Amino acid sequence: MDIVETIANTRDLIAQTRAAGKTIGLTPTMGALHEGHLSLVRRCRKECDFSVVSIFVNPTQFGPGEDFDSYPRTFDTDCAACRDLGVDLIFAPAPEEMYPRENLTWLDVDTIGDHLCGAARPGFFRGVCTVVTKLFNVIQPDIAYFGEKDAQQLAVITRMVADLNLPLEIRGCPIVRESDGLAMSSRNQYLDPEQRRQAVCLFQALRHAQQLIENGQTDTTALIDAIKTIIEKQPQARIDYISIVDRNLMQPLVKIDRPVRIALAVHLGPARLIDNIAIDPPINNKHSIRQ
Ligand code: PAJ
Repeated sequence: MDIVETIANTRDLIAQTRAAGKTIGLTPTMGALHEGHLSLVRRCRKECDFSVVSIFVNPTQFGPGEDFDSYPRTFDTDCAACRDLGVDLIFAPAPEEMYPRENLTWLDVDTIGDHLCGAARPGFFRGVCTVVTKLFNVIQPDIAYFGEKDAQQLAVITRMVADLNLPLEIRGCPIVRESDGLAMSSRNQYLDPEQRRQAVCLFQALRHAQQLIENGQTDTTALIDAIKTIIEKQPQARIDYISIVDRNLMQPLVKIDRPVRIALAVHLGPARLIDNIAIDPPINNKHSIRQ
């Protein structure tokens, strides 16, 4: 496995790989790898001849006062985990390598990025879209892997690739959870034991809403109220947003009358946690639910 910090050396390795006729897969990450990330890496490894993992804590997607400085950095353990999985190349640039001068060129996706995390974190998707496009330009993957954990990010990137005719395919991967249901996240390590115990309320609330929909509830205001009640039972939980949106444009819905995603963000002590669940509406009096 090669660990490369420069764009020039990465381009050389990629050119050799292309010349050998191999397909290239990329899993972009900010490191602090856990089983959620590794599920993407495993799939990439299975489906592509040459697997690349990028590890880069991207400054342009963090707002002022957010956790850029304190974001967990566990580079050596990340490399060991990637080596164990048979990754071919880790691209780990320094911020100056990715942004050697003031960046004046930005990418953004209208509508899909406007609500949820886009509203709560202004400039976030602009930073994500820009860095992901830069990573695509350096690695030139045939396929790139993203988690449904960040469902809005997945929708934004998928649309950006389509709108810009970028020559690659985006593959979404299911959310990996802890045994009690908490979605795995690098930010879970900010939680103290009590906050960690309370954090399970995100998944419990989503599952409760799923059951209500299975039992015929289609009114999104009632569903959001039910989710709120469960989360507010946890003394340290502070709701950022709870929203029920369509799965393509991520726009809020009044009724469950098409495939939806329930998405939420909750502050628990120092951590801002996000989670979501995809739910299909009843078809022919049968309820088909997908997580
Ligand atoms: P990061 O938060 O490190 O996540 C990297 C990828 O891992 C994302 O596609 C994310 O959705 C996926 N992931 C994280 N936790 C997961 C879980 N529990 N189950 C399944 N997939 C999970 O997302 C980013 O980094 C950045 O925004 C990035 C795309 C790298 C751009 O900087």
